[in-house]
Amino acid sequence: MEKVCKEREHLKRGNFFAFEGIDGSGKSTQVRMLAERLKQRGICCYATMEPTDSPIGSLIHQIMTGRIKTDNRVIAGLFAADRLDHLLNEVDGILNRINEGTAVITDRYYFSSYAYHSVDMSMEWVIKANEQSSAILRPTVNIFIDVTPEVAMERIARNRFHQELFEKKSRLVKVRENYMKAFRLLEKEEKVVIIDGNQSQEQIADEIWKIVKEYFE
Ligand code: ADP
Ligand code: TYD
Repeated sequence: MEKVCKEREHLKRGNFFAFEGIDGSGKSTQVRMLAERLKQRGICCYATMEPTDSPIGSLIHQIMTGRIKTDNRVIAGLFAADRLDHLLNEVDGILNRINEGTAVITDRYYFSSYAYHSVDMSMEWVIKANEQSSAILRPTVNIFIDVTPEVAMERIARNRFHQELFEKKSRLVKVRENYMKAFRLLEKEEKVVIIDGNQSQEQIADEIWKIVKEYFE
């Protein structure tokens, strides 16, 4: 049985942890492991991801799997819209949960847009297109799991039957560089930690926990 969370009433606003990294870096695994640790300690938490499963998110999935064709600028705009709905949706939006004191963990947030879409367009444009989201809610910490594109590709090949549009090695090389560029560009505004993702799942989870637990002490 899931433990009852006790921490909510002590917090004004919930913490918000955004996991970032190239495809196959181990984000979803670490989101799951962190959510588990928080729950075990009685801390209310909600794990979520982008693209979401909203109508906008499902349109994005159909584009990524090649079922619908459109321009890259349209895709970037859809991700920005999906993110705003992810934040503001009255039924299950992140903002309501944060305001009620729940800790939220998301598998990807706006740094994913900065890194992926600036392969095709200027990073400044992408940052501007996501200005509403960054004004509404910045992550307490952006947790970047860093693996080389080679390691990421191996993991993807081992575990998936098909590769989606974005999972090409040359693209991942550029995306990783773009992440670093975005972290430098926004170092004054954003809290970013970079974790070596080439370690075992448990070692990575321990490193992440050392950082995260400070926000609950
Ligand atoms: P992402 O969400 O970043 O795409 P996943 O968490 O789905 O990555 O991990 C991709 C694959 O690699 C999965 O099959 C997962 O089991 C495996 N994996 C995750 N973390 C590690 C790790 N630290 N070492 C080796 N394999 C891992
Ligand atoms: P998905 O298979 O859901 O996630 P992952 O590979 O992280 O397990 O694919 C999400 C893809 O969407 C991934 O290739 C990154 C891309 N993406 C963007 O291009 N822009 C964005 O803003 C976000 C959130 C994701």
